[in-house]
Amino acid sequence: MRKQIAAANWKMNLTLTEAETLLNQLLATEHNLTSNQEAIFAVPAIYIPLATLKLSGKSNFFIAAQNCHPKSNGAYTGEISAPMLASVGVKHIVIGHSERREYFNESDAFLAEKTDAVLAAGSTPIFCCGEPLVIREAGTQNTFVEAQLINSLFHLSVDQITKVVIAYEPIWAIGTGKTATSEQAQEIHAYIRSVFASKYGQAIADQISILYGGSVKASNAIEIFSQPDVDGGLVGGASLVASEFTAIINALK
Ligand code: PGA
Repeated sequence: MRKQIAAANWKMNLTLTEAETLLNQLLATEHNLTSNQEAIFAVPAIYIPLATLKLSGKSNFFIAAQNCHPKSNGAYTGEISAPMLASVGVKHIVIGHSERREYFNESDAFLAEKTDAVLAAGSTPIFCCGEPLVIREAGTQNTFVEAQLINSLFHLSVDQITKVVIAYEPIWAIGTGKTATSEQAQEIHAYIRSVFASKYGQAIADQISILYGGSVKASNAIEIFSQPDVDGGLVGGASLVASEFTAIINALK
């Protein structure tokens, strides 16, 4: 059975005090995750030690990084590598978020290198894909997303691809309050799975967790996560509110 995942993406939010308060609030709640469910927290890198310490006793809770550099070390001022993250216990790394693609010009080829680096460090890439509004309006979202996957992931071996988590995030739904309908999410998630099936076979494709991201909140999580090809969510805004994110965790299948 593939993993069901609620992943928080704090982005560049919260001061140290605010981060600590949010973690304390999350800790004060009961989460009953089954063995195939995970809650992952992609916190700003500077809060990784705090979050690791705070959530250490919670089973199936993991701390993630929001980004990494493809090289393992060297003269890359300001960057953090996948082996460095692994050395502090961070084994999940978000790769290719649309904000990094857009504001930092990260290309499919660069994201392929980053994915390789994460896997080489023995960690899990949470690989983001998704189309902008113009593409959705033109109705060509499937081929757009397919190209992102082919360009960045299709060089991976069967063994490697089963270690990747996909996050489908339509850009028009991120932080806009405009969510894809559960039908739209299911349709493209099924398509993404078929893309992997065509390359790696159905049995492998069925093992890949595909998360939906874009204005997921407590009020729509159950409906979206109930879709057969939606295996949880990558959550921005609502992950900054403990009660919201707790409800999202509890909405996992
Ligand atoms: P949002 O962000 O939940 O605030 O729309 C999702 C994301 O960017 O991962």
